[in-house]
Amino acid sequence: MSNFNQESVLSVHHWTETLFSFTTTRNPSFRFRNGEFTMIGLKVGEKPLLRAYSVASANYEDRLEFFSIKVPDGPLTSRLQHLKQGDEIIVSRKATGTLVIDNLEDGRNLYLIGTGTGLAPFLSVIKDPETYVRFEKVVLLHGCRRVAELAYGEMITEKLPNDDLIGDLVRNQLIYYPTVTRDPFRNRGRITELMNSGKLFSDIGLAPLASGQDRVMICGSPSLVHDTRALLLGRGFVEGNHGEPGQFVVEKAFAER
Ligand code: A2P
Repeated sequence: MSNFNQESVLSVHHWTETLFSFTTTRNPSFRFRNGEFTMIGLKVGEKPLLRAYSVASANYEDRLEFFSIKVPDGPLTSRLQHLKQGDEIIVSRKATGTLVIDNLEDGRNLYLIGTGTGLAPFLSVIKDPETYVRFEKVVLLHGCRRVAELAYGEMITEKLPNDDLIGDLVRNQLIYYPTVTRDPFRNRGRITELMNSGKLFSDIGLAPLASGQDRVMICGSPSLVHDTRALLLGRGFVEGNHGEPGQFVVEKAFAER
């Protein structure tokens, strides 16, 4: 049996010249935990051309959603960005990844730190009712260079709070904090700086980050991952992974090479 399912593209949305999202059918046999990634791609000639993508939809939804950059000469994304409704795409039958709440020790508040397309796994995590059972407050931080890159803002602030399944949980427990570094905006600055200065915590009305109460997931560029990990280790946080839950977990966002 093949390790891949063929799926069909249901919709495509272009956010900016460099960012887009698409949804596909979902073979019911494809199981994943919210926050995981899988391999997806296209057949080029006879060979599959595959890259890792976080699943941006929740594991109870019947469509799969992916959030991607467009790299002009990237082998896969230069092709993927031209996807149209009805096109075929291949999706691995397996998913894996570190950004699952089972890899975190119990705590009071959960911080989800994503930059750019590093938001994707957290879109899945914030739709999971279990996230709100495990944590009192769920703080979603999305850092981008430009305001136009703050994809999914409307879905998070308008659609999710009115969702039949998780609307009540989202309204009471989710705090969404988008921030940009290179445009005027109500929240400005790098997430690491906002944490170090304490501005983030005064803005959202929560106590400064502490390993006794807070749990963190990180997904972004290697530089963001490096600096945020250092910030957390400096405050005594212990990193978790499969089989060994910790106080924070990390995944590099998947940029095409
Ligand atoms: P900045 O504009 O100051 O570089 P990128 O597109 O490079 O992945 O960046 C996405 C967002 O993450 C930008 O707002 C960027 O800020 C920020 N960023 C990049 N590197 C870091 C880092 N090491 N620590 C914190 N934020 C970062």
